[in-house]
Amino acid sequence: MVQIKVEKAKIDQKQTSLLVIGVFENEQDFPQSKELDPSVLTYIKETLDNKEFRGTFGSNILVYTLGKGPMKKIMLLGLGKREKFTDEAARVCAGKAALKAKELGVKEFSILQFSNLDEGLIEAMTEGMALSLYSFDRYKAADKETAKIEDITILINSDSPRFQSIAERAAPVVESVNFARDLGNLPPNDCPPAYLASTALSLASEYGMKARIIERYEMENMGMGGIVAVGKGSNNPPKLIIMEYNGAGEGQKPYLLVGKAVTFDTGGISLKPGDKMDEMKYDKCGGCNVLAVLRAIASMKLAVNVVGIIPSVENMPSSTSYRPGDIVKMYNGKNVEVLNTDAEGRMILADALAYGIATYSPKAVVDMATLTGAAIIALGANVAALVGNNKQLVDRLRKTAEKTGEKMWDLPLHDEFFEQIKSNHADIKNIGGRPGGAITAAAFLSNFVNGTPWVHMDIAGTAWTQEGTFEKSYNPKGATGFGVRTLVKMLMEEEKPPASG
Ligand code: BES
Ligand code: ZN
Ligand code: ZN
Repeated sequence: MVQIKVEKAKIDQKQTSLLVIGVFENEQDFPQSKELDPSVLTYIKETLDNKEFRGTFGSNILVYTLGKGPMKKIMLLGLGKREKFTDEAARVCAGKAALKAKELGVKEFSILQFSNLDEGLIEAMTEGMALSLYSFDRYKAADKETAKIEDITILINSDSPRFQSIAERAAPVVESVNFARDLGNLPPNDCPPAYLASTALSLASEYGMKARIIERYEMENMGMGGIVAVGKGSNNPPKLIIMEYNGAGEGQKPYLLVGKAVTFDTGGISLKPGDKMDEMKYDKCGGCNVLAVLRAIASMKLAVNVVGIIPSVENMPSSTSYRPGDIVKMYNGKNVEVLNTDAEGRMILADALAYGIATYSPKAVVDMATLTGAAIIALGANVAALVGNNKQLVDRLRKTAEKTGEKMWDLPLHDEFFEQIKSNHADIKNIGGRPGGAITAAAFLSNFVNGTPWVHMDIAGTAWTQEGTFEKSYNPKGATGFGVRTLVKMLMEEEKPPASG
């Protein structure tokens, strides 16, 4: 991955092939402009005065310095209106700069701090650049040959080591987001549940975590009817992946993260239409993201305890598939009437939640899943739906998401929604009809959390770039890793110093 460092340097001293300077819309000046060679500065001022470049959000213009300075060229980068500038805007602009630099074929560039120095700005600039340079090219021979940007320097006006460490802390998070994207983008033929399981085992040994895989026969013996039922239709057996990261020592209750990892969702016997079915390879993204969160916190050695549980299956139609009409006994003893085999995510999450809560008594639970098309109908493809049983936890996640730019909004879990999943023949049924479909899915899950503080995050719209996705420089096509940064941040804010002694 690209190396990003933060350095206090005057721009007239920085040897670089490209210097990126952010300019606010309709402003004629920018920081450190006096340090530029007067002839270069005059040229830039002309460009700004003549309105050839106005600094509109995300626009850019190149200025060649013709040997009048240590930088070969300068990119003026539009930051948009100053009063609308946020950390998220910085993330997007920095991403645009990095993409433009990549297009120019440079191996290295420098970028001036966009606005007043604070930690959020440096974090956002680092993230925007490193995330935008991600590409999934392992199945393409040609792309590997194009030049890669190896080093980026953010030039700042303070020598406080605080800002260096912000960029250093951001690196493992971004690497983990890109790790989640790599897994999410894998085609379903190369990523059956067993592949995710072995990936989890290698992650664990690399980062000093515990990991184990519960196999199908064990799940049968343990009564995990949901995962077993969904997994039955495929020759690729289901796996239940358990990861434990103990950063806060024994005795502190863990957070439990559960991620849906359906490596391919055909819908099963309730087969999906063919159009865009290929996108259902992304139905594993919740699970991939949970693996990525564990990778990030373990590499940062956060002082928290976190358990990750990833139920992984392939949902296929075959003579051994589960069927509409089946009644399945779940891990917590509840009977579920299956009325649609395409509502498989909740079947596997239910067992994972019930098992995780019974085994680890977590202080709080977050699950992440590409669970319902209805979440996209409710909030579009750019906002994840949050539904939970604990207002504080929901608020905390939503507020953290405001800082990371990963948009999330909560939907209510009123009693009425539980009416919709009452079954004629069993305790509950696995679908609740079209109205409020994202909420009835969550109502289903809440039957398996036993009152533990819990939030469900439906990332159906945001887990990958799809129809309706707002273009963002830092989200290249494919899996986004949406949610990883927010969960890591929430856990970083939770971090407590390890008990003394
Ligand atoms: N994986 C899908 C949900 C999905 C659909 C995610 C489109 C992203 C984009 C899930 O397993 C599913 O098929 N859900 C059904 C539930 C329905 C049968 C109650 C849905 O949303 O249609
Ligand atoms: Zn489905
Ligand atoms: Zn699914």
